[in-house]
Amino acid sequence: MTRQDRITARPGRDSPWLDRIRALTPAFAERAAHWDRTRSYCWQNVADLTAAGLMGMAIPRALGGGGASTFDVVQIVEEAARACTLTARILVEANMGGVGAVMAYGTDAQKRLAADLVLAGDKPAICISEPHAGSAATDMATRADRRGDRWVLNGTKHWITGGGVSKLHLVFARAFDERGAELGIGGFLVHVDPAGGIAPAGFEVVRHERTMGLCGMPEAELRFTDLEVPDDMLLRTPSGMAHGFADLMTAYNGQRVGAGTIAMGVAAGALDHARRYLRQREQFGRPIAEFQGLQWMLADMDALVHASRLMLHEAARSADREGHRFPDMLLAARAKAFASESAIKVVNDALQMFGARGYGGEEPLERMYRDVRMFTIGGGTAQILKTQVAGAILGMKTPQTRDGSAPR
Ligand code: FAD
Ligand code: COA
Repeated sequence: MTRQDRITARPGRDSPWLDRIRALTPAFAERAAHWDRTRSYCWQNVADLTAAGLMGMAIPRALGGGGASTFDVVQIVEEAARACTLTARILVEANMGGVGAVMAYGTDAQKRLAADLVLAGDKPAICISEPHAGSAATDMATRADRRGDRWVLNGTKHWITGGGVSKLHLVFARAFDERGAELGIGGFLVHVDPAGGIAPAGFEVVRHERTMGLCGMPEAELRFTDLEVPDDMLLRTPSGMAHGFADLMTAYNGQRVGAGTIAMGVAAGALDHARRYLRQREQFGRPIAEFQGLQWMLADMDALVHASRLMLHEAARSADREGHRFPDMLLAARAKAFASESAIKVVNDALQMFGARGYGGEEPLERMYRDVRMFTIGGGTAQILKTQVAGAILGMKTPQTRDGSAPR
């Protein structure tokens, strides 16, 4: 291996999962502009991922999945993100997020349902955010009232990734018993499949957002009006409903590592494009790669991608330790905040190196820039994640409420 190979080598050369994703990424890269331009969901890529066993690769083998580790998943997510950000997001949600929570906390029947859906190509949706409860997620107003053997859900969720295409939904809601006493925040599984004859009354896709990037991935506002959810679709988390939110967020740390990895993968892809172009483009009678100003930019970009990858891998590996199913909260928050901010800078600098060509539509840089901008916002903003990191460093609770009261 030459010195250059060592610097630019992609990690994990020996993973069989990587061979599978690398067989698909050239086609994903070619199709990426199409999904962006037409704002259409990449069903063709989903079919390829499903056939390759990558949808649900982290689902246990006993349920038909691939039994892959969190570390395996982040490696294939990086590869996918280099080619197509949308496809990488689908891989994250088909292996982490809602499905991760179900595999850890679900009953046998819940696990079977989630596994069957994902292995057939579904990307589950996770429904936390509301118009008045974004960062302050614990202020959510969506409620689930116990009525006999079922729960009745009312409320609105917004910016729900996959709303309108996803079949399985993990809905966070404030739960109340029959007498109206609050029990805590619970996770409710809602199965929707109008084409398959499963269209629960009271579940409505109100509208889709218009986004600057990640075009082709629906972001929906969902409204629940007296939506009935059987009690056996409540995810019974280990600490009980009173600490349900903490258990659900523990699972959500996997999704955060996944999101950070997508951002890092897009940045790594942009770095590859920049390397190619610096050697190819000539100005002042020589390749622009010879200008030290650009060389130093390139070295900084490489360092940011490398540092992000190390942090994300550390966080992913923390999930694979004996007795742990999800990444450590601090490692996940630190890695996602750093990787998402770094990726925006790296992709921006790569675009700069292309000059006008980067700003135009001939190269994928402008799409990558629009795509990567999201990752300091969705999945917990960089500010919120840094607040969590600071709280851990200081060893203190950092309540953000105006009166400084202890959070619920
Ligand atoms: P706000 O909470 O209103 O924040 C506004 C600004 O204030 C931000 O800069 C924020 O960092 C800052 N801020 C807020 N509170 C603090 C504080 N205490 N300290 C310092 N700064 C603070 N949600 C879902 O539930 N499911 C999804 O599938 C989903 N997908 C998404 C996909 C996309 C493309 C996007 C953009 C969002 C998605 N979201 C989803 C919503 C996302 O989780 C929220 O956007 C995010 O949590 C931030 O909430 P907000 O947008 O309401 O911003
Ligand atoms: N992993 C594990 N536990 C977590 C957690 C995480 N990522 N985030 C919060 N918790 C736990 C807390 O430790 C606390 O547990 P405790 O009651 O045993 O002390 C409990 O959940 C409540 O968290 P706290 O930080 O005290 O709540 P808060 O009312 O101040 O709310 C958050 C702050 C958690 C909502 C905010 O930090 C946050 O993460 N916002 C972003 C929401 C988000 O990511 N949305 C993405 C939607 S896709």
